[in-house]
Amino acid sequence: MSFPDDHHSITGAAAKRVLVAGATGRFGQIADLLLARGHTVRAATRDPAHPQAARLAAAGADVVRADFEDVGSLAAAARGMDTVFASGSAHRAGPAGEERHGRNLADALSAAGAPHVVFVSGAGADMPTGVAVLDAKRAVEQRIAELRLAVTVIAPVYLMENLFNPWNLAALQAGTLPTPVPPALRLQQVATCDILALAVLAIEHPDSFTGERIEVASDAPTGEEAAAVLSAVIGRDFTARQVVGPGLPPRLAALFAWLEHNPSPVDIGALHRRFPGITWHSFDNWVKDQQARLSQPSGTVPPAAGRAISPDKDSCGHRHPAV
Ligand SMILES: NC(=O)c1ccc[n+]([C@@H]2O[C@H](COP(=O)([O-])OP(=O)(O)OC[C@H]3O[C@@H](n4cnc5c(N)ncnc54)[C@H](OP(=O)(O)O)[C@@H]3O)[C@@H](O)[C@H]2O)c1
Repeated sequence: MSFPDDHHSITGAAAKRVLVAGATGRFGQIADLLLARGHTVRAATRDPAHPQAARLAAAGADVVRADFEDVGSLAAAARGMDTVFASGSAHRAGPAGEERHGRNLADALSAAGAPHVVFVSGAGADMPTGVAVLDAKRAVEQRIAELRLAVTVIAPVYLMENLFNPWNLAALQAGTLPTPVPPALRLQQVATCDILALAVLAIEHPDSFTGERIEVASDAPTGEEAAAVLSAVIGRDFTARQVVGPGLPPRLAALFAWLEHNPSPVDIGALHRRFPGITWHSFDNWVKDQQARLSQPSGTVPPAAGRAISPDKDSCGHRHPAV
């Protein structure tokens, strides 16, 4: 499937009204992509005064208050929308919270009669795994299916942006590339902006994407290869080391152990052939895009995860109009 209009703005009948749930979160920059393509965006947050929400309001989004704990607020936000884009909240709320939030979201979208939902889940979450983080996503996918919502599930293996997770920052500053699996093992990864580009495609072409569950990855470097790329691009030495030890929350330790046995579920070649309009990032290209964020003067001190969108550039270096 290929969409020749992929790089052009949408006008007229093809423009969609899209609710971005969790608009201040790590996938919130989809709001910028949608606005840049001419869609109408409603951005949901518990705190409209949040800097990211205020920035989106200035960029043209309709910022509304909604809480994953409050079904009524989510249903109200979803009413009148063509599509709802959402992901989970595992890092903020833990697996039990993510499951509760996802069920609330599904119930709200059902009540609101949402015509199409694009939901970011996780690779492997369509099967029981015994890993709480994945089983919570599976429960949400199941609830969405039970309610017969018209859904497109996008399921990433491992985000390249995980490098910016708080528990990885000290290692990066010390010249270590933290990897969740042994450094010699290939681990499939994907850049957030590639996930979002696919989500935009699904939002714009619901007839082609409804009912699809697409697991995604854009490259599969070993930790050793990734460290070499980082060293070359950033200009200081990085050594890959597996993240282990008592500092790691148990839910992440379980996920990382699972990843070690399931590091490469995606047929990357087939995926990229199917969606040739997406700029699937190699790890090398992603690091080049992220060079400024990875090369802070005091070492590697990126801004807080999920809140790092500068006014005129998204996290993959795409330029947007200044606000
Ligand atoms: N595959 C991978 O490698 C990978 C890596 C990282 C994350 N993920 C997944 O990506 C998803 C999102 O990441 P994240 O968990 O770090 O969350 P996040 O996207 O940073 O934030 C969650 C969003 O939910 C909103 N929210 C609304 N009601 C909430 C409530 N009651 N409690 C908490 N948040 C609420 C928050 O907005 P307000 O605060 O503005 O209301 C926030 O924007 C998770 O499902 C996670 O598992 C996958």
